[in-house]
Amino acid sequence: MKIGVFDSGLGGLVIAKALMEALPKYDYVYYGDTVHVPYGEKTPGRILAYTLDAMRFLIRQNCGLIIIACNTATAITLRYLQKRFCPKFAPDVKILGVIIPTVEEALKNGEKMIGVVGTPTTIRSDIYAVELKKILPNVQVVSLSTPRLVPAIENNDFIGAEKAIAEYSENFNDIPALILGCTHYPLVKGLFQQYLPNTRIIAQDELMGQKLFNYLKHHKEIETKLSRGGTRQFFVSQLSPSYTQVAQKLFPNIQLERI
Ligand code: DGL
Repeated sequence: MKIGVFDSGLGGLVIAKALMEALPKYDYVYYGDTVHVPYGEKTPGRILAYTLDAMRFLIRQNCGLIIIACNTATAITLRYLQKRFCPKFAPDVKILGVIIPTVEEALKNGEKMIGVVGTPTTIRSDIYAVELKKILPNVQVVSLSTPRLVPAIENNDFIGAEKAIAEYSENFNDIPALILGCTHYPLVKGLFQQYLPNTRIIAQDELMGQKLFNYLKHHKEIETKLSRGGTRQFFVSQLSPSYTQVAQKLFPNIQLERI
């Protein structure tokens, strides 16, 4: 069985790369739903329908462990996938998200006030605050929807992204730790750090490799079923020269296949 990595688009390649670097021996299949990106402003019903299609596709590719790299899809669908979809349709498949590992990382230094930025849907779901408070009930959570960032990053507009980050950062001046709760934000983590020099920035590309490593160490029943050919396949639902360019920045020899 292979490891599947799913994102609404190409932002999740940052997370896929981190996983592949931390655990290179396994076989990986990436699927980016580029035809429907961005998920961050879609309704929960649409997000669930697209994510279910993506899970079925990755399962057909023989993925037995699937990481949903997209925060928005994790926020809206993970519970349903784990509690309803897998038991009924894919009992041998394990689906994990990015929110719980990020919350664990955020709380590890004992800060009592945590900031969160993400897409409108992720922030509206309040999932970060809910999960943070499950572990540390009196933690204070300051959440902010940051809708200008995904379009700016997708368009390679880092000047626009910096302008937005300068404004968004004003909400977090006195906050000791900030979760970047979106696949695209590791690409601008340096800008967040620049505008918030005293804040611990929690970026998912820095934590997901270690978290998956730990997970597999404690779940030998899954780890032993994973194939070890070191292969990587990358699928998207829509292909364009600009997507290939973006992907090549992270994986110079990448071959994107359209499904
Ligand atoms: N992948 C999404 C997330 O992590 C960001 C892009 C989108 O809105 O689809 O929330």
